[in-house]
Amino acid sequence: MNTLENLYSRKSIRSYNGENITEAELKEILKAACAAPVGRAKYETLTLTVISNADYLSRWEEATAVFADAPGLHPFYGAPTVILVSSIVPPAPQDNVSYSNAAIIVQNMALAAVELGIGACHIWGAVRALNESPELIRELNLPDEMVPCCAIALGHMDEKYVLRAVQDDRIRTDYMR
Ligand SMILES: Cc1cc2nc3c(=O)[nH]c(=O)nc-3n(C[C@H](O)[C@H](O)[C@H](O)COP(=O)(O)O)c2cc1C
Repeated sequence: MNTLENLYSRKSIRSYNGENITEAELKEILKAACAAPVGRAKYETLTLTVISNADYLSRWEEATAVFADAPGLHPFYGAPTVILVSSIVPPAPQDNVSYSNAAIIVQNMALAAVELGIGACHIWGAVRALNESPELIRELNLPDEMVPCCAIALGHMDEKYVLRAVQDDRIRTDYMR
């Protein structure tokens, strides 16, 4: 797949078939994360946590359902692996790089997932809920000062990525020429 085909085929996957990604696939996804651009190359300000512990994911889903007041919510849609991206976040206005680093890392993993035919979904809402749950955070054993920023859900699926028609005027674009 060339890069533009990859970009135009990507979509959020919210239905998984229960089969986990393989170790080789995980390795490739993590390599894609490490290929991401990071502000001032400060890779040491970031941590990836690969979570495939079903009990933990289920408790995180439950905490999110309570946080969102949405009983029965399954924010990971049955994906068997979630990779959390945490970052050291300085106070605003210096925080923009930290959150951007984390988001770009997630996007790199999402594009690698498309290439590998693996289902993926960006996960931000459940991370807000996680940040309200000190017990769940403690279990992650994150290095000091690391704050969960965002995540990606990953798993095998029955669908396939196909080229989508991209509505190329859906983001307002102004020009100063
Ligand atoms: C910053 C960000 C946060 C997102 N958070 C979530 C989320 O928590 N749960 C979810 O199901 N999708 C989430 N998404 C996916 C968006 O809903 C999705 O990208 C958008 O609806 C466009 O659909 P597409 O990805 O299929 O093109 C998020 C996407 C981005 C970029």
